[in-house]
Amino acid sequence: MNKTAKFIFNGKTYELPVVMGSEGEMAVDISNLRKETRFITFDPGYANTGSCQSSITFMDGENGILRYRGIPIEQLAEHSTFVETAYLLINGELPTEKELNNFSVMLNDHSLVHEDMHLFFENFPRRAHPMGILSSMVNALRAFYPEIPERTDEEEINITFTRLLSKIRTMAAMSHKMSLGHKVIYPRYALHYCANFLNMMFDSPVRPYTIDDDLVKALEVFWILHADHEQNCSTAAVRLVGSARVNLYAAISAGIAALWGPLHGGANQAVVEMLQQIHNNGGDPAPFIARAKDRNDPFRLMGFGHSIYKTYDPRARIMEKTCHKILKKLNRHDPLLDIARQLEEFALKDSYFKDHDLYPNVDFYSGIVLRAIGIPLNMFTVMFAIGRLPGWISQWKESIDDPKWKLHRPRQIYIGRKKRDYVPINDR
Ligand code: ACO
Repeated sequence: MNKTAKFIFNGKTYELPVVMGSEGEMAVDISNLRKETRFITFDPGYANTGSCQSSITFMDGENGILRYRGIPIEQLAEHSTFVETAYLLINGELPTEKELNNFSVMLNDHSLVHEDMHLFFENFPRRAHPMGILSSMVNALRAFYPEIPERTDEEEINITFTRLLSKIRTMAAMSHKMSLGHKVIYPRYALHYCANFLNMMFDSPVRPYTIDDDLVKALEVFWILHADHEQNCSTAAVRLVGSARVNLYAAISAGIAALWGPLHGGANQAVVEMLQQIHNNGGDPAPFIARAKDRNDPFRLMGFGHSIYKTYDPRARIMEKTCHKILKKLNRHDPLLDIARQLEEFALKDSYFKDHDLYPNVDFYSGIVLRAIGIPLNMFTVMFAIGRLPGWISQWKESIDDPKWKLHRPRQIYIGRKKRDYVPINDR
């Protein structure tokens, strides 16, 4: 295979190195292009731009493949736990039993949130969106743990990671309780990560919460499926903000803000709102499909389409199975699931959706799983954020350790006015 590509302009040839990934992905290295040719590349949305080399997550959008550190997502969803998957992403290998126990103990040790942070929570308006609260609170953690280093020895960095993983779940549950005006439930040492979260969300002094292992498993699967997705919008935000060498909390806070958007993590909430709207309008999905296909209508079928997957999102299949399992277990019928299946059936046969490669993505069924667990709609994207945290942390760590790391600073093609003189206000 040729190790260079050629760029020919005005009769002059420039050789550009070719970079190959371990799964055969190819890229043209243009890092010296401007220096040598005065050209930059133009790639709105960076859809054809590899911003880094990474050994964390592999995805193949044409064939619907997703692997963390080489391990297929299907195997992790079936056999792993969220904590083990987080360890795998951050450290590169599955933990031994001892390593996993140590990690779990550390997660328990760091689960409490500084009491003074409660004041912050109390002063947010009751109707504030939990994603805004979470992003602010994660940033605020830096003020409460000022010893946290930008970059220091391995052990301290690991404590920072663990602290964040552990506290995000406590803070998320706190924000929910406070939005209801209810008593905050503290984390319990005897409970594992997911069960502990559910208990903090749903236990109350008047009605103790009973932990159901099947609901815990559904949550494990939900979080494993969301744990990383290579250079998606929020991860790119974490890397970009992190490239300025800000502290980890600030970079993660930026990732949470990016994830909030309805085209990204906010889609899980938007899907359920859309399904509810269809349900309220009598349950016929046809008018919504027609709107999604109308170029003059900005409406999109939420939970459909993906920047990388041009086939069925492998996470959507697992999510759909989890949906059925959990509703069966709870002996519950959710009319939104019937509508989702009708929509999917309809869309998969429709030429617009086929021609545009639009298939269900992870968000299409995940909201129905969250509803079954009892998570309120406004917390859906927070659930995604907790799940994505191990990915953000591992991507940040990889970027900090990368010897070739540079401050991210894209260029632009200026299309504004040419040079002109300032006109004094009385002459305008
Ligand atoms: N419904 C209807 N049409 C769609 C949809 C959709 N959900 N998604 C894309 N299209 C159409 C666009 O209108 C466009 O049509 P055109 O070429 O005829 O003008 C074409 O498909 C390409 O659209 P882009 O936005 O350029 O495609 P891209 O791959 O960048 O979009 C995105 C990906 C943003 C996810 C898009 O599919 C979308 O908006 N989906 C709905 C929101 C959603 O579910 N987001 C969650 C994504 S998964 C995640 O972030 C966890």
